[in-house]
Amino acid sequence: MFGFGKGDTNSLTMNKAHPDSLLDRGVQDVIGKPLDRVDGPKKVSGKATYAAEYALDNVAYGYLVRATVGAGKIRHLDADGAKAMPGVIDVITDYASFIRNPQQGGETSAPTQGVEDVAYHGEIIAIVVAESYEIARDAALRITVDYAPAEGRYSFLAHREEAEKPSAQQIPPHHKQGDVDKAMADAAFAVDVTYTTPSQNSAAMEPHASLAVWEDGALTLYGSYQMPSSDKQQLAKALGVSADKVRIVAAYVGGGFGSKLGIAPESVAAAIAAKRLNRPVKAVMARQQVFDATVRRSNTEQRMRLGATAEGKLTAIGHETLVSNLPGEDYFEPAGVSTHFLYDGENRLITHDIVRLDWMLAGSMRAPGEAVGLIALEGAMDELAEKMGIDPIELRRRNEPEQDPEKKIPYSSRALIPCLERGAESFGWSRRKPAGTDRRGDWLYGIGVASAARSNQLLKSAAKVSIDGQGKAHVETDMTDIGTGTYTILGQIAAEILGLPLEDVIVHLGDTDAPPGAGSGGSWGASSSGSSVYLACEALRGQIAKAMGVDEGAMTLKDGRVIADNRSVPLAELVGEGMEATGEISPGKQEKTFNQASYGAHFAEVAVNVVTGEVRVKRMLGVFAAGRILNEKTARSQCLGGMTFGIGCALTEELVHDPRNGKIVNRDLGEYHLPVNADVPQLEVEFLYERDIEANPLHAKGLGEVGICGAAGAIGNAIYNATGVRVRDFPLTLDKLL
Ligand code: MOS
Repeated sequence: MFGFGKGDTNSLTMNKAHPDSLLDRGVQDVIGKPLDRVDGPKKVSGKATYAAEYALDNVAYGYLVRATVGAGKIRHLDADGAKAMPGVIDVITDYASFIRNPQQGGETSAPTQGVEDVAYHGEIIAIVVAESYEIARDAALRITVDYAPAEGRYSFLAHREEAEKPSAQQIPPHHKQGDVDKAMADAAFAVDVTYTTPSQNSAAMEPHASLAVWEDGALTLYGSYQMPSSDKQQLAKALGVSADKVRIVAAYVGGGFGSKLGIAPESVAAAIAAKRLNRPVKAVMARQQVFDATVRRSNTEQRMRLGATAEGKLTAIGHETLVSNLPGEDYFEPAGVSTHFLYDGENRLITHDIVRLDWMLAGSMRAPGEAVGLIALEGAMDELAEKMGIDPIELRRRNEPEQDPEKKIPYSSRALIPCLERGAESFGWSRRKPAGTDRRGDWLYGIGVASAARSNQLLKSAAKVSIDGQGKAHVETDMTDIGTGTYTILGQIAAEILGLPLEDVIVHLGDTDAPPGAGSGGSWGASSSGSSVYLACEALRGQIAKAMGVDEGAMTLKDGRVIADNRSVPLAELVGEGMEATGEISPGKQEKTFNQASYGAHFAEVAVNVVTGEVRVKRMLGVFAAGRILNEKTARSQCLGGMTFGIGCALTEELVHDPRNGKIVNRDLGEYHLPVNADVPQLEVEFLYERDIEANPLHAKGLGEVGICGAAGAIGNAIYNATGVRVRDFPLTLDKLL
């Protein structure tokens, strides 16, 4: 297994278990440690360069122009006044209409002759380019557009009856097993309830931004994107050039949460303008434009039916969901995605249908599906437990499946019940009182629980690792660090396997000139890109052993030295001119042989004011089992972020669409209410020890999103426990509680 030569590629397709992880040798003892992120000092001192911050000569500034009708045709766009302004270079209207998000399964629009048909209010229809951002913005205001307005579809309720089944995708939109109607009729206990959640925005701190530079027919785009390898393909397609003419650089990304999985309009606009003008063009979206013209999480209407025997065994699980998207867009918020495997039950009906609306494109936002789907499932489980008069955790215990209840395959690892039990103990669950009975002055107190589950995915990913003549290792992949800690964990993996101090591993990310990585999304980033680094380092160990003249197994790498045969040689001496290897991981049969998912349990305590209806989250605990934890600190931060998202999802976040034209009314951080520090109490996170040998050589599973899955549901359940009032229309604002 260790016979690699210089520059070899070590490929692994996960077709069988990988029981022996090099990370378990524990020689360096750096993997898993709660180390500070290596990019932290650069970020806090302003030395980490984000897309909009690259300083190039002769940059022109682009400002995007949005449609001000919800549907219709552009008859004429008058840019004469704008073009006449001093400092304005050009107004470009024939840029690719980019409403589709190929990462979500759609097709990239080909370059067009400009936007003729407006798809939604706020769609980008032009870019003004000027000598400064301010001039461009000012000029944009002078553009007048003559529209032939058309009738649009702006009301979810008015059109919900016309919902369509999406075309089959990676996640099948409909699943039917047995007879839910009959099982419901026969059930000893049943709930049939409908939960609704609104459109939401990822609201990443860094707005979408692109700086485009053409040189000799090739484009370099400094962008804020999660998945440079696939973003490069999309951008090339949108521009009608071959992918080898496009390079994306995304060394630092200030959050994405799904909104930067695929490219957004500013990249296409900047690239076209830069080519036309033959100079670099920077296009930075204003906050309102991010809200108006990137992607939103779809609103959902979720009918949840649960039927159980007198003993509390589920016999029926119905999760029928309606979501929204633009006509022609097949992406749907997969709200039922973890309902497929979370609980046992023979009769199952899980459906997703799309209501066609002329609202902004719906796409991925953190834990697409589960983040809002578990509000309904976990709310209904709470309702069923209440109806049966049993403890909600006990209800979950009684419905713990032995295998995937639909695919009839084993779980690779599953610690849902241990997470619930551990959390119950840590949180003081036994002190929970009957609903509406814990009044302290003007406040009603309550606690709630919800399960967390998120599928584990492996994506094809490659990385090159080299060791230079000084004995320092360099990791190169176009994987990104979107604030998650990738720089740090990839360094930890290489340091552990190569026996180097962490500071001797230099990680280079976010440049498509490097081997194509998994990108950051779907909680697959760390384990996919980490596995490719692992494989490259495994190959390097083979090369090192060869140079040392020993078997790999007889060699120890530690503190930058190679130890074997009673010899201890500095790695720098042994590598000579240097060594390099590429690692490449690909998903294989294990994905289909085992149901792979990360699990957790959320606990929340709330206080609800009896006079005002105000809800304060008092404390939260999340217990997670996600395979090997690569860095306890960055992992914990991911979960804290997810739980904070859960607070927003439960209590405040809601995009409001104007019923007259679909316009997003609250399109900034002043009006779209994210939880601020005062809304977020002490949050606790615990990880259970777990290794998943079916998932990848790291034995780690996805972690980025499991922290939000179920978090809002736990808060909703806590509010019920406090008040005895069950509100199913999220967010749970005070007006609904009074
Ligand atoms: Mo995530 S919503 O797949 O970035």
